[in-house]
Amino acid sequence: GRVLILAGGLSPEREVSLRSGGRLRDALTGIGVEAELADVDAATLPALAADPPQVVFPVLHGISGEDGTIREVLDLYGLPYVGAVPPACRVAFDKATAKAAVAAAGIATPEAVTLPREAFHDLGASTLIERIVARLGLPLVVKPRAGGSAFGVSRVGDAGEVAEALMGCFGYHDWAIVERAVDGVEIAVGVVDTGEGPVALPAVEIEPRAGDYDYAARYTAGATNFYTPARLDEAILRAAARTAITAHQVLGLRDLSRTDMIVGADGIPRFLEVNVAPGLTETSTWPMGLQAAGLDLAVVCRDLAARAQR
Ligand code: DAL
Ligand code: MG
Repeated sequence: GRVLILAGGLSPEREVSLRSGGRLRDALTGIGVEAELADVDAATLPALAADPPQVVFPVLHGISGEDGTIREVLDLYGLPYVGAVPPACRVAFDKATAKAAVAAAGIATPEAVTLPREAFHDLGASTLIERIVARLGLPLVVKPRAGGSAFGVSRVGDAGEVAEALMGCFGYHDWAIVERAVDGVEIAVGVVDTGEGPVALPAVEIEPRAGDYDYAARYTAGATNFYTPARLDEAILRAAARTAITAHQVLGLRDLSRTDMIVGADGIPRFLEVNVAPGLTETSTWPMGLQAAGLDLAVVCRDLAARAQR
């Protein structure tokens, strides 16, 4: 039957999503699966009703794509889809609730505070920033409470830079997470479940050639060095795999996910965030993990789509 890939939409990650969706469509059609890509807009819902696909593969990144909203609509239409159900998406896509849930399961995650834009008006920005720096120290990472592809994320080494970082963040979300920056090795561990339970893919180590793993470093070919498996001790890789599986399970995710972590000098993988609809572009780490595991993107995604229909 026909697989409908939902991509694009209105999120800042629209372009990334279209690249993910295009690659998935090409992969599926390449092995003879009938797959169609829809750039989600107002025409999408009438089309779903008029000509329902067999199964939907949402590859929408960012707000309204990964927070469960679109899947609620698919539930209303009674259409099966790949990936987690709305309540799980909602908790997982919100970095504050995701951090709290995995921390409750014993997973390390950098200390952070979560604050709405209004707090900075009510208390006075400088007083609040002083308190945050006193509590968390420096450097810090300022990021939108939800979102992806590093939009609105900045690393600050100086208290004087926090206000500007917050302004950048509030352009993408009304709430900010201010997190203690951990120096270390950034890794991404994909999870896939085609029926035998969640399996962790080999960890992908992320080493931007210059600066931070920002939007350009993520999506410009050659801007970042990726090492799969990550150049870390066996014991650390095992711990990272356990962390990704635990996050997937604790958050009630389904079919696929990717957990991003930082491994500090102490060798402990710390949870940064989980992705409900991980990127599938040429420079995205979930497909790299699949390849390192000897798995074929097209075959795995065909199996996920088949499993969703059962
Ligand atoms: N949010 C992007 C798509 C990712 O994490 O892969
Ligand atoms: Mg992400």
